[in-house]
Amino acid sequence: MRLLRKQGHDVRVVMTAAACEFVAPLTFQALSGHAVHSELLDAGQEQAMSHIHLARWADVLLIAPATADMLAKMAHGLADDLLSTLYLAAECPVVVAPAMNQAMWAKAVTQDNIRRLHQHGVRFIGPAAGAQACGEQGLGRMEEPVEICRLLLAQQIPGMLSGVKVVISAGPTREPLDPVRYITNRSSGKMGYALAQAAVAGGAEVVLVSGPVNLSPPVGLAFIQVETALQMYDATLTHCRDADVYIGAAAVADYRPQHIVAHKIKKDGDIASILLEKNPDIIAAVAGLQPKPLVVGFAAETDDLENYAKHKLQAKNLDMIAANWVGKAEGGFESDSNALQVFWPGGQQTLAMTDKHTLATQLLYLIAEKLHEKNPVKNS
Ligand code: C5P
Repeated sequence: MRLLRKQGHDVRVVMTAAACEFVAPLTFQALSGHAVHSELLDAGQEQAMSHIHLARWADVLLIAPATADMLAKMAHGLADDLLSTLYLAAECPVVVAPAMNQAMWAKAVTQDNIRRLHQHGVRFIGPAAGAQACGEQGLGRMEEPVEICRLLLAQQIPGMLSGVKVVISAGPTREPLDPVRYITNRSSGKMGYALAQAAVAGGAEVVLVSGPVNLSPPVGLAFIQVETALQMYDATLTHCRDADVYIGAAAVADYRPQHIVAHKIKKDGDIASILLEKNPDIIAAVAGLQPKPLVVGFAAETDDLENYAKHKLQAKNLDMIAANWVGKAEGGFESDSNALQVFWPGGQQTLAMTDKHTLATQLLYLIAEKLHEKNPVKNS
């Protein structure tokens, strides 16, 4: 609430009975500069601002933290307290930042409720993974307030990508040599996953085709796990046939071993060689589709960034390319932050070093702009 106020937003606070057990309403009253709402049937509060008036007043309803109980109530239309009633009465976008024990989050019934809420248009921020208040580790921590605030404001771009199908490939590929060895690269998938999350937040229908990474797939999208470049090629091409946007954020292996040996290769002699053959260029194949989605590539370079990026833009027939330095101290493959130099035919923009989530939202702004230029009727 403090962060939202700092950015000039007017915030009214609703507290459930459980919330009042943790924090005194007076604290939020002092911070927000307004009386805190906690009772559904309080004559005094209803006189000042009725629950229906409160629902109409808000541009967005944010529930943070959202408990498993609140999600369940919302998913089934229960309205036995002020907050759940506000949700039912709300016509504005509703955003939840869930927080609960990892087992409660993973429980089938909670996941069913989450699916229902997605279908009802509720947007999710988090949860994050890590140490929990109960001492356990896992997915279920409330996302950091600074992150909630940033994503909440990014989601206010009304329907930036609503009705738009976005396919994103992310992470590395693994090219097997034998049953236990493979060739891969340092891609963490963080940028692709951040883009997928930001695209969901912008209202898009998202398909994320991912190589093997250490990240949990964001909620609210179709997730396809692949391993090799050939598998990534098949999945991507299938889903790109009716896509509006394709973002190739994956670090696809350029070559694969020509033969995959059926048994574990034994050491033999001092020198060994692997014969490699070229993988198909996925993004170039997508750019060759008819009709073709808006195609956005990435160029990770260790030198001569601008020239290589501009060359790839042209050679692969892309609509946009986001170039970044790799192998430097900050940013790049395994880092949480990055900076991008974005090029498109006839223009360019620098996106300064920041965390990959912020960067993803900024890049999606540029992509949405290009999409509206390309297809003003469908996406207006
Ligand atoms: O040529 P280079 O690999 O540097 O180009 C990077 C861009 O091309 C990225 O968007 C990457 O996802 C894509 N790419 C691809 N298929 C390949 C190689 C790269 O889609 N086989």
